[in-house]
Amino acid sequence: MPDATRYVPPDGDLDDLREAARGCHGCDLYRHATQTVFGEGPADAQVVLVGEQPGDQEDREGHPFVGPAGRLLDRALAEAGIDRDAVYVTNAVKHFKFVERGKRRIHAQPGRTEIVACAPWFEAEMRIVRPRLVVCLGSIAAKAILGQSFRVTAQRGKLISTEEYEVIATVHPSAVLRAPDRTEAYSAFVEDLRAARSMFPTGLPGTGG
Ligand code: URA
Ligand code: SF4
Repeated sequence: MPDATRYVPPDGDLDDLREAARGCHGCDLYRHATQTVFGEGPADAQVVLVGEQPGDQEDREGHPFVGPAGRLLDRALAEAGIDRDAVYVTNAVKHFKFVERGKRRIHAQPGRTEIVACAPWFEAEMRIVRPRLVVCLGSIAAKAILGQSFRVTAQRGKLISTEEYEVIATVHPSAVLRAPDRTEAYSAFVEDLRAARSMFPTGLPGTGG
């Protein structure tokens, strides 16, 4: 099965990775998407946030979490005391997967093949950033990092140790937007982000505290 490996430069910084990822043909998603949406944030960030894949607006603008889910995420991060500028924000899959309904492009869930194909990019990002904590936003990200058997519903907000970093999984901000009780879903989401923030009692660099 082809994957992104042969497109990932063996060394270099985040800008080199981002540049190389523009030309990735590691799976078929590049064919219909506008552009690769790579991770963004400080190379020395202690915290990484990982989503599923860019959405419609991210695909057009070329930046992660700038659409409706991103706006909710920004608000929740601020409420949890996390400065978005201090964290590295990326996605498990770096191209937008969608189906066309008339003029609209509707999000389609990435499959196992695409998630596995794109993993070398995330691994390369983590080799450079070397975070202490990775926050998985939603089950696609959580399964990509913690394995297929991981269940966000059972283990959200709990600290999980891996060899490279600690992990906390929570729901995807889009799921908060779609929740029947949005207020409750939003509070629970902020609560999970507070759990992440509490790993850094003296503050995150860039938070001013
Ligand atoms: N949803 C994601 O998972 N990532 C984005 O960048 C935007 C929406
Ligand atoms: Fe490459 Fe990932 Fe895009 Fe597939 S989704 S083409 S593996 S960057």
